[in-house]
Amino acid sequence: MKKILVTGGAGFIGSHVIRLFVNRYPDYQIYNLDKLTYAGNLENLRDVDQKPNYHFIKGDIIDGDFIIGLFKKEQFDGVIHLAAESHVDRSIANPMEFIMANIVGTVNLLNAAKHIWKGHFEGKLFYHVSTDEVYGSLGDTGFFYEDTPYDPHSPYSASKASSDHLVRAYHDTYGLPMIISNCSNNYGPNQFPEKLIPLFINNIRHDKPLPVYGKGENVRDWLYVEDHAAAIDLIFHKGLVGETFNIGGHNEWKNIDLIKLLCRVMDEKLGRTKGKSEKLITYVTDRAGHDLRYAIDSSKLQKQLGWEPSLQFEEGIEKTVDWYLKNQAWLDNVTSGNYQKYYEEMYLNR
Ligand code: NAD
Ligand code: TYD
Repeated sequence: MKKILVTGGAGFIGSHVIRLFVNRYPDYQIYNLDKLTYAGNLENLRDVDQKPNYHFIKGDIIDGDFIIGLFKKEQFDGVIHLAAESHVDRSIANPMEFIMANIVGTVNLLNAAKHIWKGHFEGKLFYHVSTDEVYGSLGDTGFFYEDTPYDPHSPYSASKASSDHLVRAYHDTYGLPMIISNCSNNYGPNQFPEKLIPLFINNIRHDKPLPVYGKGENVRDWLYVEDHAAAIDLIFHKGLVGETFNIGGHNEWKNIDLIKLLCRVMDEKLGRTKGKSEKLITYVTDRAGHDLRYAIDSSKLQKQLGWEPSLQFEEGIEKTVDWYLKNQAWLDNVTSGNYQKYYEEMYLNR
């Protein structure tokens, strides 16, 4: 497979996927299609954007005519689809943006792939990157498996669930070769500071309150972003067409415990008195429809393809904090302007 379209490659996970593929596969031509929303940042790719096998296309997956034209022109062999609106809180404030980007955008890509690849599906692949949030919420025990029934609760997870169903429908109805992976919460460098870990690192740095939703008892299963990118690489090349793979680190943390760990690491790194950052913890009104617990069983991926997460969480958190502290200009840049306004509106009433 030579010509690969990666959508959403300027975002958090997409930029790590692009970096991995551009460096690892010099024979491939990697096309990064991104609209550059508030979450898309070409700075994330500065170390690879001069490589001869990397190409950037600014464009919107919601624009069906543009997408079909692009597929006709470039004749991609494979698609790794990450472009999406990805933040639950934003989906609660503005669901339609999620319906358009995550559902309509995905259908536009599916239609283009189906049209261009019709009659010669051999060797082609539409890889859809999805989330464990489609499975809903767990109680204190149990795991999400690949055959766990979908039960999304937020407009974000409902839009991702809908896109997953459509990808499967194009496989079952038209024979489109596809694979879906559903991953747990990612963390690491280049994540937009609206998500828990980078938001709290940035707030601690500025001595701002840390808004913990509800009692902080919700549980998430955290995976270092490069481990997710490595899983995508493996599944893209070795996964069986038509299959679904769960990706997760068996690394569950109650929000409040994770936040206290982060505060401890930040105190150490900033040379602050022990316990100083924890004083910033502020309990605020819970997120509407807040899922209690996510936990992924990724044994299928481990058994079939031999994937395993490479980092322990404490190690990953330290690496992540170091990255954000070393890249304060990146943080300052993305937290200026429009984002600042959004942030104020979002947290003013909590
Ligand atoms: P992100 O918000 O950091 O990046 C999304 C990217 O998509 C941005 O570069 C943005 O500009 C681009 N984009 C958005 N709308 C677009 C449009 N209409 N046309 C073209 N480009 C558009 O998201 P992320 O955290 O990197 O997530 C990437 C994918 O992985 C998403 O599909 C998400 O659902 C999935 N996922 C994320 C996580 C996580 O923890 N972040 C976990 C599992 C799955
Ligand atoms: P988030 O990073 O938004 O990811 P997701 O909602 O997709 O899991 O949130 C992770 C957890 O942290 C989630 O339980 C909500 C909680 N949270 C807070 O308590 N405060 C915050 O300011 C944010 C952004 C999240």
